[in-house]
Amino acid sequence: MLGIDSSGAAVGRGNLRNNIAYTGTLTSNMTGTSSAYNSWDLGVTLSDSQFRSVSTSGWDAPRQADGSLPTLPHLRLAANSTLIDKGTDVGLPYTGRAPDLGAFERPGDTPAGQRYEAETAPAVCQGTIDANWAGFSGSGFCNGNNAAGAYAQFTANASAAGTATLGIRFANGAGGARAATLVVNGSTAATVSFESTGAWTTWATQTVTVPLNAGGNTIRLDPTTTAGLPNIDYLDLGTIAG
Ligand code: GCU
Ligand code: CA
Repeated sequence: MLGIDSSGAAVGRGNLRNNIAYTGTLTSNMTGTSSAYNSWDLGVTLSDSQFRSVSTSGWDAPRQADGSLPTLPHLRLAANSTLIDKGTDVGLPYTGRAPDLGAFERPGDTPAGQRYEAETAPAVCQGTIDANWAGFSGSGFCNGNNAAGAYAQFTANASAAGTATLGIRFANGAGGARAATLVVNGSTAATVSFESTGAWTTWATQTVTVPLNAGGNTIRLDPTTTAGLPNIDYLDLGTIAG
């Protein structure tokens, strides 16, 4: 980026992070500029399919009622874009493990690495890891003992402190709902009722919002009745709102 020094001479200036340069001349006037975690530094492969849209039609759409720019799909990252989470923390809000490249952070992403399987350490299952009911993800699910307090626990890493949306995938082939408290870092954060899904092979996702610390968080599903938990497949850590 070209700037001017105190004597009026042209010099490179600025810190470039998390940017995308795509087609045309990727960079110029870079001498003196600090450049890292940009698409050209990372050597990521760029293509139109990285984006929801690369069309320029609709860019002259009217502003929204509150004066903000129209919400358009252009240059927003596609759900499977490899540019998601490739950036570095520059102090702006982001979702997932790291900021996305480009101007638009994808909200509500659950990128790979943010799914915590119940059968994978450091997760704890007070029961057995079973694989006899189809439809689970990974290599099995937690069949908790049918007892109050027989918990399933996950350790989820949050990129920042804030309110996180968790998705808990479960199957409950028993007739009635199964109740649990959701204990986050030792404190009860929510109560959850896992309704019957009708069959042990029918899996559903229960969504719950809890406060998380930056870094590792223990998230424990603690059943409150002797029925215990439903079968637990995984925990998805979704968007974190600051
Ligand atoms: C059955 C089923 C288990 C389930 C259990 C329960 O035994 O096979 O997968 O965990 O019921 O009621 O908890
Ligand atoms: Ca069980």
